[in-house]
Amino acid sequence: MARGRFITFEGGEGCGKSTQVRRLAAQLQAAGIDVVLTREPGGTRLAELVRGLLKDEREDPPCDRSELLLFLAARAQLVRNVIRPALAAGKWVLSDRFSDSTFAYQGYGRGLPLDTIRLANDFACDGLKPDMTLLLEVDAATAARRMRGREAATATAADRIEQAGDDFHARLREGFRALAAAEPDRIRRIDASGTPDDVEGRIWTLLKPLI
Ligand SMILES: Nc1ncnc2c1ncn2[C@@H]1O[C@H](COP(=O)(O)OP(=O)(O)OP(=O)(O)O)[C@@H](O)[C@H]1O
Ligand SMILES: [Mg+2]
Repeated sequence: MARGRFITFEGGEGCGKSTQVRRLAAQLQAAGIDVVLTREPGGTRLAELVRGLLKDEREDPPCDRSELLLFLAARAQLVRNVIRPALAAGKWVLSDRFSDSTFAYQGYGRGLPLDTIRLANDFACDGLKPDMTLLLEVDAATAARRMRGREAATATAADRIEQAGDDFHARLREGFRALAAAEPDRIRRIDASGTPDDVEGRIWTLLKPLI
């Protein structure tokens, strides 16, 4: 059986990743493709427990290095127990965030050394890389407006990482752009402005030829 494809969604908070990953999953399923939808950190029982630790805001929040290692521990579990078996079974795997978020947040955002992250991340993933990564890009004001809308709609507050300052978020954007410039064949930049239907259409135009 042919190996499935591994597609990841990346970008800063509020750009529409979770919205679009669900829409793409529905379109692929309608085209007869077996899809596994997952998210990071999370996607296995252990990894969801780690997600809880990463979002913990009580007296002992993770320091930058332990934050990196927790993300990677969750990823190692997800790759081994969910992503690899699904790809081997010919399914397509869509992940809401993956390794590029680690480079952007813990590397460009927190300032941990990129070469160390690369080594540790390759170890955690056992070399697995996405076949295609969709980087959703919107301006800061649009992202902030969408985040406020979601907080109001779901009655949730911004979490520890979401609350990091404007400088942090500016470094993230710059980081994602640098990652895309370094691997333009894998990382495809998507204009994520406009309605959810507009963005879905742009993504489908890119993905359709792969089916
Ligand atoms: N194209 C769009 N136009 C307007 N609102 C949108 C659009 N896409 C998503 N939204 C809304 O904006 C909010 C943020 O979208 P979503 O949760 O998909 O973003 P995200 O990238 O997954 O964010 P996070 O990184 O915080 O998980 C949601 O309330 C969603 O319904
Ligand atoms: Mg999301």
